[in-house]
Amino acid sequence: MSNNLLAGKKGIIFGALDENSIAWKTAERVHEEGGQIVLTNAPIAMRMGQINQLAEKTGSQIIPADATKLEDLENLVDQAMEILGGKLDFVLHSIGMSVNVRKGKHYTESNYDWTHKGWDVSALSFHKTMQVLYKKDAMNEWGSIVALTYMAAQRVFPDYNDMADNKAYLESIARSFGYFFGRDKKVRVNTISQSPTPTTAGQGVKGFDGFIAYAEKMSPLGNATAMDCANYTVAMFSDLTKRVTLQNLYNDGGFSNMGVSDAVMDAFVDSQ
Ligand code: NAI
Repeated sequence: MSNNLLAGKKGIIFGALDENSIAWKTAERVHEEGGQIVLTNAPIAMRMGQINQLAEKTGSQIIPADATKLEDLENLVDQAMEILGGKLDFVLHSIGMSVNVRKGKHYTESNYDWTHKGWDVSALSFHKTMQVLYKKDAMNEWGSIVALTYMAAQRVFPDYNDMADNKAYLESIARSFGYFFGRDKKVRVNTISQSPTPTTAGQGVKGFDGFIAYAEKMSPLGNATAMDCANYTVAMFSDLTKRVTLQNLYNDGGFSNMGVSDAVMDAFVDSQ
């Protein structure tokens, strides 16, 4: 299904690792809607992932960049503008990683070197990306920048560990940098808060099967899929959302406003 919503628009998509990645689905949808993309990921992830297939499918070039390194981001933005023939209209930050989660370190036992690394990758990288875009004046007016987040930034999900703190920081960066990007460059900055989704990053969280099933039962529309997230991002990149900015936008089937659902209550009530 294409409505040519992104015809003539160009931008960068971070974080496509494999075909389950939210960024992968987004790249496919952006391409279908007429957008032109440069793909990027950390050099190590590119060796493990299948990003070349995605590049072929979407007619895109790949520029490796570790999103914690300013020099990589500067090179990425310069190259992207050269490849795409001018300034950018959209950027998707779809990056997350916690060393404490990966190594099974409990939140109350955090290893702070790992906390620092995860924060740099998952949150500060968004500031770095925007600072490079801003300083290079790389975004067209009415451009759109989106980062992906999760509701553990607002509410407690014990096994989400320090990623909850990273997401809270990420969402705050969207508002703080979004002010300057809006005022000075007419560029909007938002986060999309997505349902639990079975991807490499998602499934790395302890108890993931439990909380994806719980969220499904709590949400009147069920969990939003990676494709739903891709479609929402396309809308946020299109001219149909020009004055939506500084927002944390829930794409979660209604989960975030629920107290309890019949399906969840039924699981607790004696059936007699
Ligand atoms: P994914 O594992 O497919 O994507 C995460 C990406 O981050 C990978 O491509 C990885 O290579 C990249 N990355 C890690 N370190 C990097 C670095 N230093 N520089 C550049 N890239 C780096 O998983 P998914 O789920 O598609 O994650 C995308 C975003 O969506 C993340 O921000 C995640 O936190 C967020 N999200 C995911 C949910 C889920 O349940 N899967 C729910 C809500 C938000």
